[in-house]
Amino acid sequence: MSSSEKGETHISSQGKRMFNIIKQDKDISSQEIANLYDDWATSFEKDNVKLNYRGPHEMSSVLAEFGNSKDVSVLDVGSGTGLLGEALKALGFTNVSALDISQKSLDFSEKKGIYKKLFCVDVGTDGMPFNDNEFDVLACCGGIVPNHISPVAIEEWTRIVKQGGIIVLSIRRCYIEIMQGQEELYSKKLAEKCDEVLEDLKNTKKVEVTLKKEVPYLENSPAVIYVLKVL
Ligand SMILES: C[S@@+](CC[C@H](N)C(=O)[O-])C[C@H]1O[C@@H](n2cnc3c(N)ncnc32)[C@H](O)[C@@H]1O
Repeated sequence: MSSSEKGETHISSQGKRMFNIIKQDKDISSQEIANLYDDWATSFEKDNVKLNYRGPHEMSSVLAEFGNSKDVSVLDVGSGTGLLGEALKALGFTNVSALDISQKSLDFSEKKGIYKKLFCVDVGTDGMPFNDNEFDVLACCGGIVPNHISPVAIEEWTRIVKQGGIIVLSIRRCYIEIMQGQEELYSKKLAEKCDEVLEDLKNTKKVEVTLKKEVPYLENSPAVIYVLKVL
């Protein structure tokens, strides 16, 4: 058993199904992803406790370091059941909205009363239903995953984030780099697309990468957090 599989033995059948789909890295429809997350919504958080998931905690700390004020408008993209929203609320953020493709995950998070507004959107297909410069911060914690949100969407995110605002992303290293014991999770497609999009955004002076750091994420599997300043 590879190191990435060890922690997955005790999670729900819905969680196992999702990790298998990610490993297969086949093209499946976003509707299918939405259905899978709808089914997973009520056991997602329990599974992530078992997997020692630290993404929202790490990302909220980075946001707190960068934010001048806790009133900044934040859009949590791929918000899931609201773990990042909860972490941000605990740090005093007051103006956070949620966006996800899974209505059941949004319903789960709505009950927590942590989000100002909630949007059910398929990033990539629906586009972003927001005005230019609408947000100070866009955070995407664990949404850029094989078969999930494509990094191609980041360009559109630079439109809805104000100049001087930030886009914060966390991406598991094993998806974009070949890591020992987690080779089956590497996605050449995703890795190449991430590099291409980030290079293009830097060359066209749409963003500046102000932070790139490794953080603990899932058990034995770190992530890279990027902070992109919108120019
Ligand atoms: C791994 S979960 C992360 C959830 C949450 N950010 C967290 O850290 O707990 C990925 C989320 O991305 C959402 N997602 C996947 N594809 C999407 C798409 N095309 N548009 C919007 N959301 C999407 C899923 O529904 C899911 O809630």
